[in-house]
Amino acid sequence: MSLVNKIDKSKLPNHIAIIMDGNGRWAKKRGFLRNLGHKSGAKSVKQVVEACAEINVKFLTLYAFSTENWNRPKLEVELLMKLLISSLKKELNTLQKNNIKLITIGNQESLPSKVLKELSYVIEKTKNNNQLTLTLALSYGSREEIIKTIKEISLKVKNNLISPENIDISIINNHLYTRNLPDVDLLIRTSGEQRISNFLLWQIAYAELYFTDVLWPDFSKENLFEAILNYQKRERRFGKTSEQINE
Ligand code: FPP
Repeated sequence: MSLVNKIDKSKLPNHIAIIMDGNGRWAKKRGFLRNLGHKSGAKSVKQVVEACAEINVKFLTLYAFSTENWNRPKLEVELLMKLLISSLKKELNTLQKNNIKLITIGNQESLPSKVLKELSYVIEKTKNNNQLTLTLALSYGSREEIIKTIKEISLKVKNNLISPENIDISIINNHLYTRNLPDVDLLIRTSGEQRISNFLLWQIAYAELYFTDVLWPDFSKENLFEAILNYQKRERRFGKTSEQINE
């Protein structure tokens, strides 16, 4: 029996974020080139996106390419960009069929023009979909995002558009790449690593963290359901006491 039936639909995480890790190790274990790991990883992306739409998770954010990933060998970066383009072309139908809206976060200017072109096409085509918002973090780094936010707010302070004493959580939220997204409820990282790696540092303030040894290309719908079930067993206190939560 699928684990999906055990999920309490009234206690779903509204926003799931995933650090998809382990493509390289998955390939190495099989004697394949790393690229095959990424290709296989793209299949897991499809599985997980469909599963979220199916069970009514409203926001899914995937760490597809970090600012630090630009330092990988040139060929691997090129292949990842090609894979992104081909996946966007191939999966536009899946997005439409499942009523999924695609958006991106990150420093888009550094992406190759071919990627930008394909992204803007799919973003435009899916902009009215509302079952699930799929966010691809591309050329994304949380520190870069925070620096950009501070610069934008400072400029507004300088121009008397914001007064420093009014700076609060919502002003900061409204200047981040994620300005249209709610806080993350559940952060998943695959492959046994237990790090955040510069992903959504501000947005995961109260997220539940879930680490699994499963390598990303092996991560299936059932693994996602397992993570959600684990999340549902936790008591989220947001700084309050257990008694206050259960009042
Ligand atoms: C980490 O594995 C994964 C990435 C750097 C890229 C994630 C990309 C995909 C899942 C492919 C396609 C994505 C989309 C959105 C279509 P790693 O290479 O760091 O693995 P390792 O730590 O085992 O070397």
